[in-house]
Amino acid sequence: MNIEWTDDLIIGVDIIDEQHKEFFRRINLLFQSIETNDLKEIARTFLFVRQYVNIHFKTEEDFMKNNINYEYGITNYIEHKNDHDAFIRDFTEFEKIKIKSKREILKIAKEFYPWMRNWLSQHITCIDKKMGVIYNKSVEKK
Ligand SMILES: [Fe+2]
Repeated sequence: MNIEWTDDLIIGVDIIDEQHKEFFRRINLLFQSIETNDLKEIARTFLFVRQYVNIHFKTEEDFMKNNINYEYGITNYIEHKNDHDAFIRDFTEFEKIKIKSKREILKIAKEFYPWMRNWLSQHITCIDKKMGVIYNKSVEKK
């Protein structure tokens, strides 16, 4: 099942919303490549996630440091960074799995896809959204 981008996922910071959309696009490509047994595309997705997630988390963490009032946003920053770090830890476990056959690649991708899909929508709706709300409140205060 594809993951659908809906406007209620918008957090109101353009660069971050664009990056989230790119994750959705790539995760849907992963779904298609599982359906078509496209092992090259599956491998490309893993590489993409590893590189893009570092860029994306840095964008969000820098954004919080630079734009959100320290006292007001510190709790969200810590909670947020912890969730990013947990993702990196779990993703690294996926990467460590030694793959010996094509069938195993598909098996891992089938486990990875729903995990990544759930993580993304959970993280955006519960944590990134909060960052957007705190940011917008701190802008209103100025
Ligand atoms: Fe985030």
